[in-house]
Amino acid sequence: MEGFFLQYVTNFPAFNVESVTGDIHFSKEDFGDDFSWGVATAAYQIEGAVDKDGRGPCVWDKFARLKGKIKNGDNASISCDFYHHYESDIELVRTLGFKEFRFSISWSRILSQGFGEVNEAGIAFYNKLIDKCLSLDIVPWITLYHWDLPQGLEDLGGWKNRKILEWFESYATICAKAFGDRVKKWIILNEPMAVAGLGYTTGLHAPGRKSIGNFLPVVHHLAMCQAIGGEVIRRNVADAYIGTAISCSYVHAASADLKDVRAAKRADALMNRLFVEPALGLGYPADAFSFLGNIKKYMHAGDAERLRFDFDFIGIQNYFSVVVKHSYLAPVVWLKEVPAKLRNVPITAMGWEVSGDGMYDILKQFDAYEGIREIIVSENGAAYQDNVEGNAVHDFERTSFYQEYLNAILKAKNEGVNVKGYLAWTLMDNFEWAEGYAARFGLVYVDFQSQKRIIKDSGKWFSSFLKD
Ligand code: BGC
Repeated sequence: MEGFFLQYVTNFPAFNVESVTGDIHFSKEDFGDDFSWGVATAAYQIEGAVDKDGRGPCVWDKFARLKGKIKNGDNASISCDFYHHYESDIELVRTLGFKEFRFSISWSRILSQGFGEVNEAGIAFYNKLIDKCLSLDIVPWITLYHWDLPQGLEDLGGWKNRKILEWFESYATICAKAFGDRVKKWIILNEPMAVAGLGYTTGLHAPGRKSIGNFLPVVHHLAMCQAIGGEVIRRNVADAYIGTAISCSYVHAASADLKDVRAAKRADALMNRLFVEPALGLGYPADAFSFLGNIKKYMHAGDAERLRFDFDFIGIQNYFSVVVKHSYLAPVVWLKEVPAKLRNVPITAMGWEVSGDGMYDILKQFDAYEGIREIIVSENGAAYQDNVEGNAVHDFERTSFYQEYLNAILKAKNEGVNVKGYLAWTLMDNFEWAEGYAARFGLVYVDFQSQKRIIKDSGKWFSSFLKD
């Protein structure tokens, strides 16, 4: 499986210099008045303060201390120190012109072991953050789970233990009751495929468990929690707008050879269909990848029905498209990615292909599902090698990336795809998981020593693009 997940941990670069100077052929108005413009973040990547005010450890705290797991031996115990800078950082959201802000709740700040007594200091922190957003007229979006499982739950088996259905339900209920009076936009899970694939199968992410035997039970428990979380928010939050965020990449077969075509179908099942189809009542996509049929072993009576949830929107998180071919060297999936750097295409600093067409194609693919009401592009962005020059970062490649992808989204929208919002990834440079601080995705540059922030040219471009 490892090769298949490589795209999550490798590459990035650029384009079209003229367009960065403002020569683009669309405006904010073309997306319509009801289109949401926001910027996304995740608790573990920005907050720091990992042992402040009763926060318990999460799987990433432990994983980052293991030798060789994170590039340069980095860890997130301070990171952007958003915990102490949240007010000025939210003011930056406004300066960049965004009116919506997506953040996630750190489960172990609310429940230090993952269950049990509520940590009121954790609730108080998110209340202050939400109130700050509202005071600036910024619409808050909560992600309930962005990969930072409390270590206390991992010690009991984590996502492999079916008890997580109860743990997650209680945690979601606490959040709904604490924040639902002011927060209406909710994302239940962030990219569950990364948790199952990288966290429990290849071990490249926390908790670092490496076994193909983990994959199916973990997938099933995540898919169940996706629906359970949706139900909890629906029951407890009046007028909620509920979605879940899926990593997705349009998959091309490397050739017309039937073996490659089938490999592409398997990759598509894993990367794009695995979590959305159960929610839509279509079950797991075993038609394209028979291995997924074994998931039945982990399903209890009634689960097929419980997997279904009528989401108000599906969050699409797209960074790149992929090309795959059949491989005898990758047991179970029998496929491998043809890396972008071998295909002579533009790439970012992560080695990921820059492809607005890929965004367009995946939007069209998701739009074809009858049961999807609305689509939000809940993450999209790029890492590049940024250089500070005086008090500026001239990241024309990133600006160009955003312009290309926005253009593709607009094209899909004009053809009838019901895409209703865009959340850029990400507000500021942060702890990029296994890449540590080596990969910078921010619209704002962060000097991690001094905690100084510098708005990059891409951030300035957004602020002029989004100006009313
Ligand atoms: C994740 C983010 C991550 C970004 C860039 C997404 O998969 O949700 O947490 O930083 O991609 O790798």
